[in-house]
Amino acid sequence: MDRNLPIGILDSGVGGLTAVVQMNKLLPNESVIYFGDSKRMPYGNRENEEIIDLANRMIAYLERLGVKAILLACNTISSQLPHLKSSVPLFSIVEAGAKSVVCASEGHSSVGVIATCATVKNRTYESTIHACHPDVRVISNSSVSLPKIIDSELDNVGLLADKIKECVDPILQKDPHVKYLLLGCSHFPIIKREIGELYPDLIFLDPAKSQVSILRDYLEENNLQSQNPKRQILLYTTAETYEYAAAIKRLKLEIDMLMKVKLLEEDE
Ligand code: DGL
Repeated sequence: MDRNLPIGILDSGVGGLTAVVQMNKLLPNESVIYFGDSKRMPYGNRENEEIIDLANRMIAYLERLGVKAILLACNTISSQLPHLKSSVPLFSIVEAGAKSVVCASEGHSSVGVIATCATVKNRTYESTIHACHPDVRVISNSSVSLPKIIDSELDNVGLLADKIKECVDPILQKDPHVKYLLLGCSHFPIIKREIGELYPDLIFLDPAKSQVSILRDYLEENNLQSQNPKRQILLYTTAETYEYAAAIKRLKLEIDMLMKVKLLEEDE
């Protein structure tokens, strides 16, 4: 394995850019190739078979470009990990998120998880957290519309607040003692400020942080840290590139390239 190859990151849309933020903090020498299938997001409202097929195509795309490992920044895709095919190591954000929940809650408290419909329906966080610690009480809720709003209507303040409350309030109604809220959809750390303003007493867990630190350990253990002094961040999307402007600005990312590409034959 060539240690100077970039790290691949994939997501259904702009959400995985939150993993790029963590890469900048924890692995600032590693180049990144990002793939966001924004044309077909939200994945969270799709059937499992379709999610698996699209994710495998994105993985194959990144493999062709040449990457040494892939971060599955999308929780919905990570929920399908056993069905994904890759010749390079895949790092699931759900496994990383479950570890951060168990560490933060010390195995006792109730933890809230907000995620997409597919992630909640598949009960992925519950089973992954309980595999590490069976006593954590996990209360999950999904939002049909929040990821899409974050992708394309990030500045619609009133709509964002309404949809955040619709998603978080039912968790606190079930258990007012919930102290930690896991942002179990890659899009949600982008609106951490807005969620924090509405729920100042909650402590937010961003699984991308622990995902990138797991990757850092892997690179260290396998002597795979990049030695290339010219680091690059390249973004590929299946939708119009202007859709990335708001998220790139909000996350204060500096990128080297943003390009529209085809994932399926029918893509324009
Ligand atoms: N990126 C997805 C996730 O982390 C959410 C957006 C979608 O539904 O496509 O689950």
